[in-house]
Amino acid sequence: MTKVQFFGSGLSGFREKTLPGRLIVLEGTDGVGRSTQIGLLKNWLESSGFAVLDTGLTRSLLAGRGLKKAKEGHTLGAKTMDLFYATDLADRLENQMIPALRAGFVVLTDRYVYSLMARAIVRGASADWIQSVYGFALKPDAVFYLKIDLPNLIPRVLTSTGFDYWESGMDFLPGDDMYDCFVQYQTRLLATFDQLARQYAFDTVDATQTVNKVFSVLQRKIRKALPKSAPLVDAPRIFVTPLDHAAAEEADIEGRREEFAAAATQASGLGAKSTKGKAPDRQANNAREA
Ligand SMILES: Nc1ncnc2c1ncn2[C@@H]1O[C@H](COP(=O)(O)OP(=O)(O)OP(=O)(O)O)[C@@H](O)[C@H]1O
Ligand SMILES: [Mg+2]
Repeated sequence: MTKVQFFGSGLSGFREKTLPGRLIVLEGTDGVGRSTQIGLLKNWLESSGFAVLDTGLTRSLLAGRGLKKAKEGHTLGAKTMDLFYATDLADRLENQMIPALRAGFVVLTDRYVYSLMARAIVRGASADWIQSVYGFALKPDAVFYLKIDLPNLIPRVLTSTGFDYWESGMDFLPGDDMYDCFVQYQTRLLATFDQLARQYAFDTVDATQTVNKVFSVLQRKIRKALPKSAPLVDAPRIFVTPLDHAAAEEADIEGRREEFAAAATQASGLGAKSTKGKAPDRQANNAREA
């Protein structure tokens, strides 16, 4: 049961005091491993019989496409972008997340108000202002903060998508060097996340650990946020597609489990992917939302 509490005055016309679902947030900086964990958690929860909604930034019908176009075209100022992201969240809350919570779903959200606050604050918005903007948002049942440091983050980003214009703060930082901007921006962002972690009492998870270790820590913590009666299956050590189970068994018998696990992790997108190589041009930024 989610106790309905808002950060501020809440959504107008909202009357319920409780909702049967659970609102679970995964927070953390760009490239830390949120999507990887959401994929694993969704699979585990669904295997255990829970209905799961996974959602994330720019996935609203109302504002998702507009936000992506605004990012491609660099057409909006920082404050307007902040409000556009708030619109995206408000629409998803009203039309996706709250209906799912009402129907008893576990809602897993890849980022929530905190990333949006952190991004706004490092771009110069006042913390009071951006926090008051999110007065309409529902307080989640749990916030897991995937914490990483810059030396661990850089290779993780380099071996996956490569540096991104927005994730390097190139929309507001001076200078044309994407690596320098990434270092500066992410240093400020990580410091802001740490402040928010204290202020909002995030449950911090050491994201420098392996995928499987982070996953098992999250499983243990999420169990506590779920109904006691819920039967939870033991998730596989690695995420494999159903068709792979026979091959996994065969590899096990032949004593090639480790080798198979590495290959399956790679194939399922959990391993390091090859970098796109070239950093995108400063003007032609990568509009992928993350
Ligand atoms: N614990 C981990 N250890 C090492 N590599 C990891 C770990 N978790 C994820 N990765 C790898 O890091 C890269 C980024 O992971 P992922 O896409 O899940 O991050 P993200 O936080 O969703 O990123 P984005 O901010 O771009 O959406 C991927 O190549 C993934 O395989
Ligand atoms: Mg992601």
